[in-house]
Amino acid sequence: MGKYNDLDLSKWREYTDIETDSLWIIDKRDNSGAHSGSYHGNFVPQIPHQLFSRYTKKGDWILDPFMGSGTSVIEAQRMGRNSIGIELQLDVAKEAYDRIVTEKNNDVKTKIIVGDSQTYDLNAVLNSINTDKVQFVILHPPYWDIIKFSESPNDLSNCGSINDFLDSFGKVVDNATAVLEKNRYCAVVIGDKYANSQVIPLGFYCMNLMIEKGLLLKAVLVKNFGETKGKSNKQGIWRYRALASDFYIFKHEYIFVFKKVK
Ligand SMILES: C[S@@+](CC[C@H](N)C(=O)[O-])C[C@H]1O[C@@H](n2cnc3c(N)ncnc32)[C@H](O)[C@@H]1O
Repeated sequence: MGKYNDLDLSKWREYTDIETDSLWIIDKRDNSGAHSGSYHGNFVPQIPHQLFSRYTKKGDWILDPFMGSGTSVIEAQRMGRNSIGIELQLDVAKEAYDRIVTEKNNDVKTKIIVGDSQTYDLNAVLNSINTDKVQFVILHPPYWDIIKFSESPNDLSNCGSINDFLDSFGKVVDNATAVLEKNRYCAVVIGDKYANSQVIPLGFYCMNLMIEKGLLLKAVLVKNFGETKGKSNKQGIWRYRALASDFYIFKHEYIFVFKKVK
């Protein structure tokens, strides 16, 4: 097995902060430094932090095709990893860039791109930085249409049906994993949704899509879902509705980890 992280196993007892269980309970968001919790639909920095600790080394290149507010890019540069973040919306990418540069690490390179991750020419990007592969891909797509991120037809949150969403997500996966080094890893962070009185298991659909593309499923992680700003003052209403009906309130999302073996 190739070495794909910087863990020194002679010190394994000291790594008390690194998750090895499949249930991740993260109570408080890391809001330190350039991290900002204000972008609707961002993930907590602890997710990329944990994944980069286990699956990357200093100097590796990490690709995030759904960069949003730049959480994984900030975490990558803190941890001495190079990174490429792609975001469809110019204003969102610019806002992320302005925060990312406030805690620049001169030992690493970061590349922020505005574009559509389904079609963006990643080989050209890698050529421009004199490399041909990335060593980790972190994918945090829109949870289909739960949050509408923009008006753009290329935005995955504007897909008209679950099949369109999976088709578009699959294009991003193909584009990104084509430049992922063999025997390295990628992760998908996603939750489910309700529609028409039933659960739409987006997580399992996306997991299956990755398996069908030949990626090896290495982990199914369940992470607690913090209260979103929108829902925090409506907790009682949701509980009443759940008790009065037949559904449960989502309190978890998934992190699926895959290895590229061919
Ligand atoms: C769930 S958010 C990612 C949030 C990010 N992990 C963070 O912590 O801020 C998904 C992002 O993907 C972007 N997006 C949607 N479709 C895209 C596409 N085709 N190409 C690139 N970005 C896209 C959205 O604008 C949104 O910012």
